[in-house]
Amino acid sequence: MIDIHNHIIPGIDDGAQTIEDSLALLQLATDNGITHLVCTPHMHPGRFNNTTDTIKPAFETLQQAAREHNLPIQLAMAAEVRISDEFMIQLKRDKVPFLGRWEDKTVVLLEMPHDRIPMGIENLLSWLDRQNIRALIAHPERNKEMMRKPELAHSLAKRGALFQLTAASVAGGFGQKALQTAQWFLENELAFCVASDAHNVTHRPPAMKAAYEALGAELGELLCVTNPLLLTRDLFKAV
Ligand SMILES: [Fe+2]
Repeated sequence: MIDIHNHIIPGIDDGAQTIEDSLALLQLATDNGITHLVCTPHMHPGRFNNTTDTIKPAFETLQQAAREHNLPIQLAMAAEVRISDEFMIQLKRDKVPFLGRWEDKTVVLLEMPHDRIPMGIENLLSWLDRQNIRALIAHPERNKEMMRKPELAHSLAKRGALFQLTAASVAGGFGQKALQTAQWFLENELAFCVASDAHNVTHRPPAMKAAYEALGAELGELLCVTNPLLLTRDLFKAV
């Protein structure tokens, strides 16, 4: 399986803090059947002030450590980018690492606030589209407003948004509301892929197998393997 969203690079966000944490997470990911993993630390101005400048060297250190420990997992890097005033500026300055390509557009992993769908998101998506960029929206099923009104996802999809569900939500680990909202996305064929959003080995591990099994072989293969691999193939080619 291919995990395109997690917080495994040490010391630059609220995920792994040390290289030992990272290596334990990578070992767990491997044991869980993950063969390719794109590290996506938070870019959240004021909280985690990351850009390509901070992510790249930290990623290279992790990659070197993974090689030295002979971990059989392919690594690449991108970011989980919070919607903020700085997002468009950082894009223009080429400081945002992209997640991949889909239908001839570059894809960025975009995070909404947890409690609401931000005003003006349709305008942002249309602006991104004009720059040949599509947003893959992280964990919409855990957004409080989306839980109440999932049908709002249709207007975002119309403007090119793709949606990534959290593996633990699909497997029931984030509670009934997140599970029901994830199921709504699946029933409406709006789920593009599933990813772990792993932060640590205890409460937020890099696990996708339970989600794959809950989805069944056909849909599990599409959302945990085929789509994420097609999306990120250029990233892994470059490594
Ligand atoms: Fe995340």
